[in-house]
Amino acid sequence: MSTPLNVLGSTGLLHGCDYNPDQWLHAPSVIDEDFRLFPEAGIGVVSLNIFGWAQLEPEEGRYDFGWLDDIFDRVARTDLKIFLSTPSAAAPNWLTYRYPEVLRVDETGRRRLPGTRMNFCPTSALYREKVAALNQALSLRYGKHPSLALWHISNEYHGMCYCDDCEAGFRSWLQRKYGSLDALNAAWWSAFWSRTYTSWEQIRAPRGHGEGTSVHGLCLDWRRFGSDLWADFIAAEIAAIRAGGSTVPSATNLHPGGLQHDAWRLTAPTDIISWDAYPNYHDRDEPWSVAWNPIVYQSFVQDMCRGLRPGRPWLLMETTPSSANWMEVPKLKRPGIHRLTVLQSIAHGADGTLYFQWRAGRGGEEKFHGAVLENGCGGSRSRVFADVRSATDALNNLAPVAGSLARSQVAVGFDWDNWWLQAEILSHGGRGRSHYPWEQLDLYREHWENAVPCDVIDPSSPLSDLSRYRLLVLPQHYLLRTGFVEKVTAWVEAGGILLTGVLSGWADASDLVYSDGMHPGWSRLVGLRREELDHLYPDEKNRFVFAPGNALGLKAEFAAVAKLELNHLVGAEVLAIYGDDFYAGRPALTVNAVGSGFVYYQAARSEQPLRQALLAALWRRHGIEPLLPLGSLPAGVTLQRRLAADGREFWFFLNFSRQTQHVPLHGHSGLDLLTGQPSGNALNLASYGAAVLALSRS
Ligand code: GLA
Ligand code: ZN
Repeated sequence: MSTPLNVLGSTGLLHGCDYNPDQWLHAPSVIDEDFRLFPEAGIGVVSLNIFGWAQLEPEEGRYDFGWLDDIFDRVARTDLKIFLSTPSAAAPNWLTYRYPEVLRVDETGRRRLPGTRMNFCPTSALYREKVAALNQALSLRYGKHPSLALWHISNEYHGMCYCDDCEAGFRSWLQRKYGSLDALNAAWWSAFWSRTYTSWEQIRAPRGHGEGTSVHGLCLDWRRFGSDLWADFIAAEIAAIRAGGSTVPSATNLHPGGLQHDAWRLTAPTDIISWDAYPNYHDRDEPWSVAWNPIVYQSFVQDMCRGLRPGRPWLLMETTPSSANWMEVPKLKRPGIHRLTVLQSIAHGADGTLYFQWRAGRGGEEKFHGAVLENGCGGSRSRVFADVRSATDALNNLAPVAGSLARSQVAVGFDWDNWWLQAEILSHGGRGRSHYPWEQLDLYREHWENAVPCDVIDPSSPLSDLSRYRLLVLPQHYLLRTGFVEKVTAWVEAGGILLTGVLSGWADASDLVYSDGMHPGWSRLVGLRREELDHLYPDEKNRFVFAPGNALGLKAEFAAVAKLELNHLVGAEVLAIYGDDFYAGRPALTVNAVGSGFVYYQAARSEQPLRQALLAALWRRHGIEPLLPLGSLPAGVTLQRRLAADGREFWFFLNFSRQTQHVPLHGHSGLDLLTGQPSGNALNLASYGAAVLALSRS
């Protein structure tokens, strides 16, 4: 059996950290100690130079590579690998002092002062020139170094700039998109409130004290432009590296929080997907029981990382080995949680985990942030260091998993156009109360809890090949990108099963709603026409009442909440009707047979019991087999699967609950790679424990 290769072409899983020797150049003995301790912790990768610009270019045009050469030389004498960062995230003071025009302008028009990172204007030609020169120099000097494994492009691009140059760039982007002001005015419905634009110069970025949220097409295009602008900036950073001769792959670490920009657009110029995860598993006493579940959210985004580059493992570029100082309550990770977090990322398709950070600095904003070596008396004898070591041991044991992928019959659809619109822009029952992406998360969670592998995809993206899936779960797919109805219809006709519903198919790619309720092709696909939408107060409920003998065999009644569409049948068959109010009797859940496939439409938001019953019924009816029979997994336990190219299956059982949990294997068995022991016919998972079975072939 050949040794499997990870996403970077080496063997085994990667384990590393952000390493900032640039903060310790005055203390060479500390750097000596770092290199002594890396192998002790089991650190195999260091991300260098993320914020090293000031040390690398202490004055304009004068590069000082000495310290970085030294680190590369030290690394070369070890088995460590380097992720070399382009340091564009934080500009040095000499630059912003001499050229304040590179600084970002905020929404109010105020030019920001130096002092923080991600503080530059992404349009600034001068900033781009300085970054490109440095990137090219880095590439020339280190681009072919044998220890270099990855270019780490900048750090967590986020935010926007409202300077004149960015606005001019926005106008050019709009000109390319619309060609004429007439087309733009039509797409933006700008006759409303007398917003008609009669020259391009009149178009400004939307701001709280300006267009705000009144011109929805403008707001949406500004966000799309922002993602494209950052993608362009990233592409320019990478082009400079290539101009320096390096062919080593690139990745940019996506921001953990708001995922403000469209990750599909942003990551397009890069080779490998990576993101930064800072879950707070101690938000609540038992996060397991609350609706907003940080654990499931992590899994959701990690499965999205798979969706961003199908067929390729990804990297968890940052997580903290203990606490994160910026959290409201920076709780320590309880014993076992750290290892479990690391295993979670691997379970969802990562080929490695890195930390922020190796060693906490003595000053600055992050001196109290968790680190492999924290400011505390423990040093390498600390509890955290031992936790990191335990993750190393686990990752070493999982070397056979490297390079393996997931295969899911189900995908949940999520895209930024719909998120931005529904969460931030649209006004229909309160901004920020749109249930997007909660609806996605809720439906995803059913798969997570029931051992049904599930991808998270942007279904309109050309990267998303629907033919890989049997079931597409597509809640609140309000905005339809051009060509999507044709794409999804062809897939359903060929046998795809679509679950969609309330607030779907209402608007075109410009957010112009269809006057008769839905896109005509969508209406044909779902077999419905929409007339109205009712909203309920949080304490009000209607009911889904299932028709006797319905195709899904569902009998009980279930709550219908929050948003309820009043629809007419045009071909769909009724599975359930509303039970109450003046629209009692109208279709609440329907199915439409289209070619060899079926489209289910749930006209109102539901609660967990219906989500569970409905999905279980769809899996049963349409041949989607959970990995273990329903009900096998206790609350807080998930099962995720990776598949190797040679057909081997790795089953990751992760117990996020505070109890030991018993999981019957129903005839499956395998070797637990973490312990080297055979599984027997059931697992007993300690609290925060895990098992990774290399499944025996039956
Ligand atoms: C982000 C950044 C890191 C560090 C961590 C702290 O993810 O990329 O540089 O600031 O947050 O949690
Ligand atoms: Zn700008």
